[in-house]
Amino acid sequence: MKIVETVEQVRAEVAKARKGGNKIGFVPTMGYLHEGHASLIRRAKEENEFVVVSIFVNPTQFGVGEDFETYPRDLARDSDIAEQAGANVIFHPTVKEMYPSEYKTYIEVEDITAKLCGTSRPGHFRGVTTIVSKLFHMVKADRAYFGQKDAQQVAVIQQMVRDLNMDIEIIPCAIVREADGLAMSSRNTYLSPAERKAALILSQSLFQSEEMIKNGELDARKLRNWIKEKIQCEPLAKIDYVEIVNGVNLEEIEEIKGDVLIALAVKIGKTRLIDNIRLEV
Ligand code: PAJ
Repeated sequence: MKIVETVEQVRAEVAKARKGGNKIGFVPTMGYLHEGHASLIRRAKEENEFVVVSIFVNPTQFGVGEDFETYPRDLARDSDIAEQAGANVIFHPTVKEMYPSEYKTYIEVEDITAKLCGTSRPGHFRGVTTIVSKLFHMVKADRAYFGQKDAQQVAVIQQMVRDLNMDIEIIPCAIVREADGLAMSSRNTYLSPAERKAALILSQSLFQSEEMIKNGELDARKLRNWIKEKIQCEPLAKIDYVEIVNGVNLEEIEEIKGDVLIALAVKIGKTRLIDNIRLEV
């Protein structure tokens, strides 16, 4: 496995791989890799001969007062995990390589970026779609792998790819969880032991919601209130949002029917965590 830092180098590596007729799989990340990222890399390797993983903490998707500076970084550890999962190249550019001082262009998807995480993180998805489209142009992969952990991110990227006729297949991948249910996240490292326990409120309320739906609860407003009340019982938790929406367009729904996404963002202490389940009802 090679680690490269410039656009020119990653282009050269992919061009070489393509000459042999190989399909290219791409996994964009911000690093501090865990089993969730590794599952994406393994899947990419199963479906493509050559896999590029990008590791770049993208400043344009962080708001003022968010954790850009403190976001965990460990390239040595990441390269071991990526290599074991099957990556051929890590693309690890500098901020200057991606955003030179004369940088002026941004990609913005409307409507679905204003909901859910878009409400409390204005500008976040503009940063995500900008960096992801830049990376797509650099890597020119056949397929790109994204985790359902960030369900809205998947919906936004799929919208962008459709709208801009990007020649790449987006493959959504299942959420990987810790044994006790907590969705894996690089930000889980911020949690104190007490907060780590409290964080279980997210997955537990989602799993119980699924049970309630199976037992016939189809009223979205009732279920949403139930989830809110449950989370409010956890003293360390502060709700950012609890939403029950259509899984494709993220429009709020009244009846739990069809492609249903239950998505949460909850602050545990200072750490903002997200989780979701998607169901076909
Ligand atoms: P990051 O948070 O590092 O996540 C990279 C990819 O890993 C995303 O597609 C994310 O959904 C996926 N992922 C994270 N935790 C997961 C889990 N527990 N199970 C399954 N997949 C998981 O998402 C980003 O980086 C950035 O916004 C990025 C797309 C790289 C653009 O900067």
